Amino acid sequence: MISTRLHPDKQSAAQAIAREMADLIRLRSESGKATVLGLATGSTPLPLYAELIRLHREEGLSFRSVVTFNLDEYEGLAPAHPQSYRFFMEANLFRHLDIPAANIHVPDGLAADADGHCAAYERAIRAAGGIDLQILGIGRTGHIGFNEPPSPADSRTRRVHLDEVTRQDNSVFFGDVAQVPHGALTMGVATILEARRVALLAFGSAKAAIVARAVKETPSADCPATWLQRHPDCVFHLDAAAAERL
Ligand code: F6R
Repeated sequence: MISTRLHPDKQSAAQAIAREMADLIRLRSESGKATVLGLATGSTPLPLYAELIRLHREEGLSFRSVVTFNLDEYEGLAPAHPQSYRFFMEANLFRHLDIPAANIHVPDGLAADADGHCAAYERAIRAAGGIDLQILGIGRTGHIGFNEPPSPADSRTRRVHLDEVTRQDNSVFFGDVAQVPHGALTMGVATILEARRVALLAFGSAKAAIVARAVKETPSADCPATWLQRHPDCVFHLDAAAAERL
């Protein structure tokens, strides 16, 4: 089931979700348990990551007991490539926290055996105890992670082909659409649905149409975010512009 939560703006949403994450991390670490977070890249989670960094610096929130799994990575980009998702995560979150390097997982866009790497990624998530809280954005194609249409509900971590709409949208980061890779490695829909809690963030009017489809359409591979309706605890955190078609 998808429930929606309206926030006055993306900063307020970031504060609310960061607080939820901090409570979860503290509660679990008090009983000696790790917290496993599923993380997204892109513009949407940036205020959330800034708030987590602030909580670490100003309120002593420790990430020593946190294990992370990123959703996806472009195929063919090295970790040091400025547009790789590994680089993005290091620059915007990890390097500012006390999270142990060994606890961080991002798919390897250069894996020689991509299929074997994806299967190992699934095993690593399971070995860590599964994802406690998965952060998601949503693409205009209805993708979550890089699960472009058509992505079935039982899809797992795998190589995918990026939709041209997504390549166009993400070209703002590359400067030129020709530079945007055609392929990626992504957690699957089933991988995402296994997270115990899911928080999807969407802000601005450009996301209004796809948010409405995700919430209202019958679940199908044509709009992969609709599969979230089958999750028992999925919250869409929205501002008024993103919620205007609900
Ligand atoms: C990123 C990811 C994507 C983005 C989506 C929205 O790791 O998995 O699904 O969340 O493309 O991107 P932004 O936030 O840039 O609009």
